[in-house]
Amino acid sequence: MSDWTHRHVLDLAAFSLEDYTTVLELAQRFRVMPTSGARKLPALQGRLVTTLFFEPSTRTRSSFELAAKRLSADVQSFSPSSSSLSKGESLLDTVRTYVAMGADLLVVRHRCTAVPAALARDLEASGDRVAVLNGGDGLHSHPSQGLLDLFTLARHFAPEAPSPEALRGRRIVIVGDIVHSRVARSNLWALTACGADVVLCAPATLLPQAFAQFVDAPPPGQASDPVARRGAVIVERDLDRALAGADAVMTFRLQKERMHQHLLTSLESYHRAYGLTHARLERCGSAVPVLHPGPVNRGVEMSGALLDDLRCSLVEEQVTNGIAVRMALLYLLAAG
Ligand code: CP
Repeated sequence: MSDWTHRHVLDLAAFSLEDYTTVLELAQRFRVMPTSGARKLPALQGRLVTTLFFEPSTRTRSSFELAAKRLSADVQSFSPSSSSLSKGESLLDTVRTYVAMGADLLVVRHRCTAVPAALARDLEASGDRVAVLNGGDGLHSHPSQGLLDLFTLARHFAPEAPSPEALRGRRIVIVGDIVHSRVARSNLWALTACGADVVLCAPATLLPQAFAQFVDAPPPGQASDPVARRGAVIVERDLDRALAGADAVMTFRLQKERMHQHLLTSLESYHRAYGLTHARLERCGSAVPVLHPGPVNRGVEMSGALLDDLRCSLVEEQVTNGIAVRMALLYLLAAG
């Protein structure tokens, strides 16, 4: 933990292998803590965590708020629809208002890429000590989801001691609406950093071939890649071929709210080609765990029966693990 240097958590492209180790170790400590009796730790007593979600959320927002409460922080939520944004107040002035009320940590979700990073930069420039956590920005990044997915996989492969090493050499398939997915992008950084090979699978309208080079260079504005050697990224259009030899499969929601043109002929044909079902996994000989960040379109990206089958579906486990991972992030940033 002594190596932790991040003042904000904005994008996993900036995470080193040591950062992943730190988050996973700490999350595991929080995950195995007794959940009955005295559930609160005093770590963030007197700190104020403010959640600013300019886009809808069920999991991320509630999970951050619960994580903050379990660390004894005060929690304040912002609701855009009933705020003074409707009177013309700017986003930055809105955020500054919450900082003036004493926010120590801001969790920000916005439909536009880089809004959390821009806020972090502006607040730093004006001397504010507040830390910004990206709760999901546009198509760009969803770091806490990428970390909780990594933690869930690491716990699946090494339940007692989840670490990046548990992912080394694994074949992880990601299928679905990858082009619109900030979760897919965060998973690409996280999984390849830990030495997993990632197979991306979707029709060309949802997965441009250029994704095969996604982690070849750090994003604009970042001088270098903190990870010396990453796993491979492979684009495979055929789901049965992608699943052959897989260690785990993640499927992502069709993001209809971000599709501004017809990218699919029909949901039925998409499900036939790319939907996960028991039969499909059995046909591929893949008794593999299945992950989905949620929310799920039942019967589209995966069958309802597979989603509800706790022998292979890790979807509920992801939600539970999300609290521990977010506790770890809040703890690390508050300590910093
Ligand atoms: N996975 C995820 O980000 O879910 P929410 O949109 O419900 O927060």
